[in-house]
Amino acid sequence: MRFTNATATAVLSALQVANAQTFTTCDPTKKTCPGDSGIGNGKPFDTDFTKVTGTDAPTGWTYADGTTMSYDSTNGANFQISTKTGAPTISTSQYIMFGNVSVYAKASPGTGIVSSFILESDDLDEIDWEWLGSNDASVESNFFGKGNVTTYDRAIYHPIANAVTGWHTYNIEWTKDYVKWYVDDMVTPVRILAYDDPKTIKGTQFPQTPMKIKLGNWVGCADAAAASDPKTEGTCEWAGGPASFDSGASYSMYVKNITISDAGCGGTYTYTDQTGSYGSISSSNEGDTCGSSGSTSSAAASSVASAASSTAVELPTSLIAGASSGTTSAAAANATTTASASASSVPAGVSPASGNATGTGSGSGSGSKNATSTGSGSSGAGATTTKAGGSSSSSTSAPQITANSASSHKYGAVELAVMFLGLGVGYLVM
Ligand SMILES: *[C@@H]1O[C@H](CO)[C@@H](O)[C@H](O)[C@H]1NC(C)=O
Ligand SMILES: *[C@@H]1O[C@H](CO)[C@@H](O)[C@H](O)[C@H]1NC(C)=O
Ligand SMILES: *[C@@H]1O[C@H](CO)[C@@H](O)[C@H](O)[C@H]1NC(C)=O
Ligand SMILES: *[C@@H]1O[C@H](CO)[C@@H](O)[C@H](O)[C@H]1NC(C)=O
Ligand SMILES: *[C@@H]1O[C@H](CO)[C@@H](O)[C@H](O)[C@H]1NC(C)=O
Ligand SMILES: *[C@@H]1O[C@H](CO)[C@@H](O)[C@H](O)[C@H]1NC(C)=O
Repeated sequence: MRFTNATATAVLSALQVANAQTFTTCDPTKKTCPGDSGIGNGKPFDTDFTKVTGTDAPTGWTYADGTTMSYDSTNGANFQISTKTGAPTISTSQYIMFGNVSVYAKASPGTGIVSSFILESDDLDEIDWEWLGSNDASVESNFFGKGNVTTYDRAIYHPIANAVTGWHTYNIEWTKDYVKWYVDDMVTPVRILAYDDPKTIKGTQFPQTPMKIKLGNWVGCADAAAASDPKTEGTCEWAGGPASFDSGASYSMYVKNITISDAGCGGTYTYTDQTGSYGSISSSNEGDTCGSSGSTSSAAASSVASAASSTAVELPTSLIAGASSGTTSAAAANATTTASASASSVPAGVSPASGNATGTGSGSGSGSKNATSTGSGSSGAGATTTKAGGSSSSSTSAPQITANSASSHKYGAVELAVMFLGLGVGYLVM
């Protein structure tokens, strides 16, 4: 890390105030939320942006507020910024529960400009690739758990040639046991984050809830004023200094194609409790419809995601009450306890359907112990002012509710409150 402590603090506060890209419309670790429509592991979801015509979002993608895009047959999707408030961002309409994502991209040049390819969940687990337009020699990997931005010590800069001026394939392989980041191949990861890495705080900060894939280009440092404003100076320093829009300058990140494989079972992914642990995530798809054409490695995630099924969607009132009171309830803290206390709401890992190998991992409840969801995100929730991108999530929840009325009615009213949580990726939308 190149930051001094003071700078890191400045970055932290800047992002908490300024962030708008990373947010959640409903945090399932704090309240009941609509389920997440899953892609499922039947077949990869590929998008070839060089084949897109027009400017509407391609099938399966959603534009953040204020996003305009163009597409061409040579470079694919053009995430172009030509003003200091530009922040074109697209996200998948559906979620994955572990899996692989590969993006063939050329990051945006330009001092102060930040390109990003991230996976992000409703409770603000996050896995990132980011590029600084001022740095053609490296790409950054990063992760966050449950929106915890107490520290900024998880980013790693990986040296690669032509990080900004060249095309590369960037991969994320995400399982319950690890996250691996790869550049240009799926053989030698440039980074491996194990579930029990010390930085995951015993797994509690390991990204492990259903994720959308988001691609975007944004202005990390708008101008000289931002560079001297205590609230944004840290971000500005990180971004390499103020962006220049003199003489009609514009900056484009290009993405030719993306391949997404969901290791989970698809259907609707539901947080069966408020721990935010992978063992608490169920899929509405039964085991027999899941994994039949999936890859071999999907077994673990499939069983995690499939076990609870539609019958286990309903949360026991005691669990809701206990968890929402602010402390993690005893039941939530131990999957086994939950199961015996309330046979109808079995955390995925405990169900017999989760089988042998995965039962050990998820059934142990190691991820759900010590659920640390409360508090962390609230530090960033003070970022009240900006609005952007709010529609992307809420518009995708709506169809889920109609499509899955069985589970949605059990969950009650849809939460539409928009919470802005500070995170490592921040749009400076003024
Ligand atoms: C992810 O990629 C790895 C390496 O190519 C492969 O072994 C694994 O099966 C893939 N998983 C999914 C869910 O596609
Ligand atoms: C993405 O584009 C690159 C470059 O044209 C190509 O080599 C690769 O096969 C493409 N991937 C997919 C999944 O279409
Ligand atoms: C959780 O469940 C396991 C298995 O039954 C048990 O050994 C352990 O003591 C429990 N832990 C807590 C905190 O209840
Ligand atoms: C499940 O258990 C059987 C029998 O113990 C074992 O042969 C098999 O390898 C296990 N499956 C996995 C995925 O570990
Ligand atoms: C929670 O985790 C912390 C740090 O990992 C540990 O010190 C503490 O004992 C855990 N608390 C419980 C209740 O397991
Ligand atoms: C947030 O992360 C820090 C370290 O990165 C950790 O010390 C702290 O316990 C975490 N907070 C929560 C609520 O998990």
